[in-house]
Amino acid sequence: MRIEPSPDVIGATIHDADLTQPLSAADFARIETAFNARAVISFPRQHLDEAQLVAFAQRFGEVERIFLTHYAHPRHPEIMYVSNIRENGRDIGHADAGRVWHTDMSYTARPPRATLLYALEVPMENGVALGDTHFASAADAHDSLPAETQRRIANLRAIHQVAGRRARTGTGQGDQALRHEQPAVIHPVVRTHPYTSRKCLYVSEGECAGIEGMAADQALALIEELAERIVEPPFRHTHRWQVHDLLMWDNCTVQHLASFDYRWPQHRRLMQRVTVGGSAPV
Ligand code: OGA
Ligand code: MN
Repeated sequence: MRIEPSPDVIGATIHDADLTQPLSAADFARIETAFNARAVISFPRQHLDEAQLVAFAQRFGEVERIFLTHYAHPRHPEIMYVSNIRENGRDIGHADAGRVWHTDMSYTARPPRATLLYALEVPMENGVALGDTHFASAADAHDSLPAETQRRIANLRAIHQVAGRRARTGTGQGDQALRHEQPAVIHPVVRTHPYTSRKCLYVSEGECAGIEGMAADQALALIEELAERIVEPPFRHTHRWQVHDLLMWDNCTVQHLASFDYRWPQHRRLMQRVTVGGSAPV
C-alpha cells in the first residue's frame, strides 16, 4: 500500500490497497491516519461488492441506514444510489447530491464522520470524465482568518436546517418533505475536529439559516463571508473520477460540491454511497 498526498492542502491517493480483504490493524491505522490528515482519500481500481463496501466503511465507525429509502439498495439498506440514471420513468438514485457547497447532513444533530462514494459508472465525453467532485478545506480556511476574526467567531453557534436558505429562494423546494422530518439544529460555527483537534469552519450558505443571538442580516452576511472563505482557491481540491474509484471524505474538515456537466440520457453516472456515523459537533 502506497499513500500519495495530492499537491493540494487536502487529498491523497492510496495505491495498491485491496479493500475486498479484511485489513490488518496496521494497514487500517495507516489509512485512518491518512484520512484524518488529508480529509479526502481515494482508492483507485477497487472491485467491491456491497458487503465489502459496507465492511470497509464499518472500520471507521457505525454505518448509518439511509433515510431516503426509495434510493437505498434493495438488499443493503446502508447503501444509497447517487445517480442520474432513469429507469421506468423514475430516478434510480439521488440525482441532486450537492449542487451547492455543503457538508453532508449538517442539519442533523450528529452529522456523519465520513461519506464514501464508490463509482460504478462515470460519465465520459471525448475521453474526459465528467461529474468531478470538488472539495474545500474548512480547516485551512479557518487557519487563514485573521486572529481577530477567529476570536470574534470562536463561540458563535449557527442554526442549520435542510436547505435552510435555499427554501426561501425557491431552489430547495424538493427538500420540503425532509424539512418536516428534520427540525433545525444548532452547531458551533467553529468545530474542533474529533480526531485531529484542528479548528474547522462549519457553516454553509445552503443550510445555515442564522446565528444564535445575532440579527438576521448580520448573521447571513457573516455566514456568506465564512462560506466564501472556505472555498477560496488555495483550500480546494478536485477529484476526477475513474470507474471503480472509492472516494471518502471527512465531513468536519471539508465541504464538497458536485458538478453537473453531464446529461441524461447521453451520460450515465452511478455511485454507491455510504455514510459513517459521527459525533455531535463541539
Ligand atoms: C454526496 C455528494 C457529490 C457527487 O453524495 O453527498 O455530495 O459528486 N456527492 O456526487
Ligand atoms: Mn454531499
